[in-house]
Amino acid sequence: MENPEIRLTADGSKTLYLQSLDETYHSSHGAIQEALHVFIEQGLSYVAAKTTSIAIFEMGFGTGLNALLTAQWAEKHQRKISYVGIELHPISEDIWRQMDYAQGKSESESYSEIMSAEWGKFQEISPFFQLKKIEQTIYELDIEEKVDLIFFDAFGPRVQADIWNLPVLKKMHGMLNPGGVFVTYCAQGQMKRNLKSLGFTLEVLPGPPGKREMTRATKS
Ligand SMILES: C[S@@+](CC[C@H](N)C(=O)[O-])C[C@H]1O[C@@H](n2cnc3c(N)ncnc32)[C@H](O)[C@@H]1O
Repeated sequence: MENPEIRLTADGSKTLYLQSLDETYHSSHGAIQEALHVFIEQGLSYVAAKTTSIAIFEMGFGTGLNALLTAQWAEKHQRKISYVGIELHPISEDIWRQMDYAQGKSESESYSEIMSAEWGKFQEISPFFQLKKIEQTIYELDIEEKVDLIFFDAFGPRVQADIWNLPVLKKMHGMLNPGGVFVTYCAQGQMKRNLKSLGFTLEVLPGPPGKREMTRATKS
C-alpha cells in the first residue's frame, strides 16, 4: 500500500490523500466538521437519545478520527461505548502522529492509546470507551457481535463501488440490533436503493458543509 499524503482541509483539520485512488479520507471541505456532523451528531447523538447501550461498528477505521471524537463524546456525556473498527490498511505511526486531531494533553494521550491499541482485542481506553480494532477486509469479516450503530466510512462509490453493494450492506444489516442505525456521508442513489431493498427505513439528511446530503438508515 502506498504512503498517503497529508493534506489540509477547509476547516483547518488534516486528512490523508491516496494518489492511486485520487481520493481523500475525508471531505476536503473539512475533515473534523464532516466527522462531527455525519457520525457524531446524526449518528451517535441520535442513537444515544433512544438506547441505553451503545455499541458501534466502524467500517474504515483509517486515521481513528471517528473513534477519537466518539471517545470524547462518551467522556463528555458519561455514557459507556463499545467500539469496533475494521481497517484493511492501518496507517503508520509516523503518519497518525502528524494528524493533530487531539487538542491538549489528555486528548493526545487518548488518541495515542487509540492508535497504538493492540489489534484484535478489546482495550479499555477510558472508563467510558472500550475499543477493538480489527485488521481485516470487510469482505471476510464474520463476527457475531451485534451493534446499535454503524459508521460506514468507506472510500466513495466512485473508487470502491463493491463496498456499497448488497453483499457488504447486507452484512451491515445483519450486525445491527433491531432499531439499529447505519450512517454514512454518502447519498448515492444506488446505495439508497440497496439499503431500502434490505428493509432499512431511510432518511436523507442535510450533509456537512460543502455536501448537500447524507444518509441515515434504520433497521426495523
Ligand atoms: C474514507 S477512509 C476512512 C476514514 C476514517 N474513518 C477516518 O476517519 O480516517 C476509508 C478507509 O477504509 C479502509 N478500507 C478500504 N477498503 C477496506 C476493506 N475492504 N476493508 C476494511 N477497510 C477498508 C481504507 O484503508 C481507509 O482507511
